[in-house]
Amino acid sequence: MTMSNETSPNVLVIHGPNLNMLGKREPEVYGKTTLDEINTELKRLGKTLGLCVETFQSNYEGGIVDKIQEAMGNCHGLIINPAAYTHTSVAIRDALLLLDVSIVEIHLSNIHKREPFRHKSMMADVAIAQITGFGADGYRLALEGMARLIISET
Ligand code: DQA
Repeated sequence: MTMSNETSPNVLVIHGPNLNMLGKREPEVYGKTTLDEINTELKRLGKTLGLCVETFQSNYEGGIVDKIQEAMGNCHGLIINPAAYTHTSVAIRDALLLLDVSIVEIHLSNIHKREPFRHKSMMADVAIAQITGFGADGYRLALEGMARLIISET
């Protein structure tokens, strides 16, 4: 975890399984932007918003749970795209409940317009907001929203 300096709250961005394949993975659904490009933009935007952005991707449920536990007391906001675990993971949901900071759930595609099994999110009622369907732009919107939340909380 990158620790904040005195003036920059930490925002952790977690990307779930298969999101490391963005750009190559079903570009008609998820777009052509790569995860590296998304992360670079988030860090750049974070600086302009006065936030310290850390990004993390894992294909493993336990890896994501570990990362959320590590974030306890160390981050001021969490943005998460749990990817396929959105629809299945009680473990990630339970880990999110450990945090007492704002959580924003994000999806590139509009999960509500897709197959019925994607309509249910285990995280939706744990998150303060859900952004779904704006493609890679959604991450920028999530970070801007998070910046406003953090400012209003301090
Ligand atoms: C996703 C939607 C999920 O249903 C899917 O399993 C993903 C990506 C999205 O960003 O649109 O891997 O979270």
